[in-house]
Amino acid sequence: MSETKTALITGAAGPMGKAAAEGLAEDGVRIVLADIRREPLEERASQLPTETYVCAFDISDEEACKQAVAQIENEFGTVDILVNNAGILSNNKLMSTSAEEWHRVLAVNLDGAFYLTQACVPPMKAKGWGRIINVSSFAAKCGGITAGTAYSVSKGALNALTFSVAAETAETGITVNAIVPAYVRTPMVEEQLTAEQRAAVIRKIPVKRYCEPEEFAHVVRFLASPQAGFITGELVDLNGGLQFD
Ligand SMILES: NC(=O)c1ccc[n+]([C@@H]2O[C@H](COP(=O)([O-])OP(=O)(O)OC[C@H]3O[C@@H](n4cnc5c(N)ncnc54)[C@H](O)[C@@H]3O)[C@@H](O)[C@H]2O)c1
Repeated sequence: MSETKTALITGAAGPMGKAAAEGLAEDGVRIVLADIRREPLEERASQLPTETYVCAFDISDEEACKQAVAQIENEFGTVDILVNNAGILSNNKLMSTSAEEWHRVLAVNLDGAFYLTQACVPPMKAKGWGRIINVSSFAAKCGGITAGTAYSVSKGALNALTFSVAAETAETGITVNAIVPAYVRTPMVEEQLTAEQRAAVIRKIPVKRYCEPEEFAHVVRFLASPQAGFITGELVDLNGGLQFD
């Protein structure tokens, strides 16, 4: 990358956030590791090859998001690349989803991305360059194989947020895209599915394996790169052939 950029990656304590941080750092990007859990971030930060900053906050809390972004700007610099990766899974289908669960899943998976996008767009506009990468899910496109109603809806709405902000910011040098993975090899998949569900899932995926976190990170790096500047409002499928479109 031509000048050193700074990326804010949420959910950086998880395996996909970790892989994205490692990949972007390999490209010379300075990394802000954000998560609701601070402890795993401290260790992770010390292992990255570029400058890092650790920030623990709850992305479903609007004030916390505003404060975190202001603090990052003051103490580390403005965010050029926002990776809205933090998310929570819920496998409950319609009739077993409580209103409380519905609101919590939407608050983390959708509201968090909205608050952080709102906070990060003004400095990106001022610089005339920015990258927003939302981590959606194949559940949004297929209604959820194993994923539940609230989760699928939250990711569908995240796709719509991607389109809306991409349309609004297209002239400003900011691109807004979403990655749409299915079944990345993470505890979210390995621990929250039964052995029977896992076997059925692998049978269903045409490439017959899970996506590796590094393969996800590769797409983050690509979308964050200066050469991806003509791609905006795109949903990049990462689903091993589960759906062609
Ligand atoms: N694992 C998969 O197969 C898969 C498939 C499709 C989409 N995704 C999406 O990819 C993203 C990362 O998934 P993962 O498998 O690494 O999940 P993960 O649960 O391992 O990591 C998610 C991280 O988000 C953090 N987090 C949760 N709530 C938060 C909050 N309120 N504020 C701040 N941080 C919070 C968690 O502490 C965790 O470290 C998620 O958005 C997920 O929905 C995952």
